[in-house]
Amino acid sequence: MTLVEEIEQLKKERNAVVLAHYYVNDEVQAIADYVGDSYYLAKVAVDLKESTIVFAGVNFMGESAKILNPDKTVLLPDAKADCPMAHMAEVERIEQVRKEYDDVAVVCYINSTAELKMHSDVCVTSANAMKIVKALPNKNIFFIPDENLGRYIASKLPEKNFIFNDGYCHVHKAVTADMIKRAKESHPDAEVLIHPECTLEVLELADYIGSTSGIIDYATKSDKKEFIISTELGVLYQLKKNNPDKQFFAAGSVQICPNMKKVTLEKVRDCLRDNTGVVEVSDEKREKSLVPLKRMLELAK
Ligand code: 13P
Ligand code: SF4
Repeated sequence: MTLVEEIEQLKKERNAVVLAHYYVNDEVQAIADYVGDSYYLAKVAVDLKESTIVFAGVNFMGESAKILNPDKTVLLPDAKADCPMAHMAEVERIEQVRKEYDDVAVVCYINSTAELKMHSDVCVTSANAMKIVKALPNKNIFFIPDENLGRYIASKLPEKNFIFNDGYCHVHKAVTADMIKRAKESHPDAEVLIHPECTLEVLELADYIGSTSGIIDYATKSDKKEFIISTELGVLYQLKKNNPDKQFFAAGSVQICPNMKKVTLEKVRDCLRDNTGVVEVSDEKREKSLVPLKRMLELAK
């Protein structure tokens, strides 16, 4: 039996479904039942009929799926696949900001630990952050943990007062404006598609700014034939699959997330077979972090 056949059989035996983020290895995306950006995957996780969810992604994604589905078993193929940015904010700072500002909303990017979510008012993803922050009644916005996404949203919502936090995604922060300019010189007809976890200086060079799904949709609908991509390069799998007649160029060679790449087919098989990587969230953490996650799903509708 091939590895893929083994996974299919285990999925049936365990009544399991595989969710995968666009950044995981191609072969894992290929066997997943649902592939998408963080917002899509959070939405999908709420309506699944299967009793076991394998989350091919990083820790905070499995944790969010468990918070939204306490009665299901959620498995992470590699429990050590963790997003460093998810830890880049402090509860003490949140409490300090709440004391300093009367009318403040703590807006927590979904790339965060449950510990940070439970102290926040609402979660967002890159696909819905603009809509949600705009709809909040609060004047002051403490945006955690990603400074770059926060600054991008702030640049579009001058009516709000933003307080920033110094978290970042090392994969997106490594892309520089010079890299984009050089890629543009090599491919002058290409459109530049950039994820908002990149710095503002890089975003200024974009033809389109959006989440991973946004980037894939944009390129798929565009009449252009060439694109420079500034996000983690796992998106190339879906981009090429949807658009065999178009060409995609990486802005630089640095756009690889080592944690997302820890998820392999072998590990998907092993977690299903051995019931490893079971995600556990304490009741208190779950109840409190469910509030901002549910608020996100409501406000983003
Ligand atoms: P999106 O897929 O929501 O754009 O998220 C990007 C990301 O960095 C996930 O880790
Ligand atoms: Fe975290 Fe960046 Fe990797 Fe996404 S790409 S999981 S934000 S380190």
